[in-house]
Amino acid sequence: MADDLIPPSSMFFLLIVLISGGFPPPQFQVRAQQPYGKEIDDCTNNHNSSSMLGYFCNTGSSPSSCQSFLTFTPSSPYANVSSIAALLGADAASLAAANNVELDATLGKGTTMLVPATCGCTATAEGTFYQHDATYVARPGDTLQSIATRTFQGLTTCQALQAQGLHGAPLESLAAGERLAVPLRCACPSAAQAAAGFRFLVSYLVAEYDQVSSVAAWLGVHVDAVTAANELRPPYTIYPSTTLLIPVDDQPNVSRIIQAPPPSGPGKKRGDHVGVYIGVAVAAAVAVAAIASGGAFLALKARRKRAAAVLAAGELPKKHEKGLVSFVAARRHRKIGQ
Ligand SMILES: *[C@@H]1O[C@H](CO)[C@@H](O)[C@H](O)[C@H]1NC(C)=O
Ligand SMILES: *[C@@H]1O[C@H](CO)[C@@H](O)[C@H](O)[C@H]1NC(C)=O
Ligand SMILES: *[C@@H]1O[C@H](CO)[C@@H](O)[C@H](O)[C@H]1NC(C)=O
Repeated sequence: MADDLIPPSSMFFLLIVLISGGFPPPQFQVRAQQPYGKEIDDCTNNHNSSSMLGYFCNTGSSPSSCQSFLTFTPSSPYANVSSIAALLGADAASLAAANNVELDATLGKGTTMLVPATCGCTATAEGTFYQHDATYVARPGDTLQSIATRTFQGLTTCQALQAQGLHGAPLESLAAGERLAVPLRCACPSAAQAAAGFRFLVSYLVAEYDQVSSVAAWLGVHVDAVTAANELRPPYTIYPSTTLLIPVDDQPNVSRIIQAPPPSGPGKKRGDHVGVYIGVAVAAAVAVAAIASGGAFLALKARRKRAAAVLAAGELPKKHEKGLVSFVAARRHRKIGQ
């Protein structure tokens, strides 16, 4: 009977649903807020559409300015409250209070700081973007790339630094001692997010081994709210030194934020899909190696044939053929000797 058969199109649909892990429940289908930007190594292209120049100001009912939070990992020479506050253009007293530490505290390795930062819609030559403004004086050896991903850990991008810090001048024109405007990535909740009860967006700096699910769980947010806020599509791959916007309904819990999120357990640290990618990469490498060695074998065979011909004709081998000719000759002697 026809009823017994599942039409192939339904099977396909079922497969898609299975692969995508189902659809978000209705209450989390908030209007997508910002595109996730990951092109941190491609400075020569601005990747505006994926938010590398900055998160977009929502037109309409979103606020032009709001309270936001950034995360930052203390790392020398930015390892105490005052130096982190100075780097990120934040208020030291608010920074200390938000993290439940003294104003003169030095932070240990492996902690994650919560940085309160006012986020404002700012008009720039490249468009209007939500950002928190900081300034930085370039040191000898700095590049826009190192300032963006090492000094600021990914809270800004080399594209945004070039546009606003260097006013569009070439990347190489950065000079030590130059004072740069540094736009830090932040955003205000969209109208849909506000309607869903979200009051703040945390610009969370993705660390190695992070997964969307572990970051969401750590901040007590449903994973679907996070994927929607960042317009992430399955397989939800995220990369170190990029920012993930986490919508939260209250100021994030310091006792949780003060520690880095726990790794996802042995053997599953690099994200759900990296294992698959590694498998594909290994298969591709094996295929390439097979093709290359096949080619090399054929080339060697051709050269041996030529060398044998040289030997047979009693010609004097050319310089690059000498080794091979004596090899072929030696093999012949061995064969004869057997
Ligand atoms: C904070 O760190 C900076 C730079 O490493 C250092 O110069 C400063 O003395 C430190 N301040 C405190 C209060 O530890
Ligand atoms: C970047 O995108 C925004 C929003 O789509 C647009 O307003 C702006 O002009 C774009 N800037 C560049 C340099 O393409
Ligand atoms: C913050 O997190 C800690 C540890 O997970 C928990 O014990 C505490 O109750 C939380 N506080 C609030 C106000 O949610």
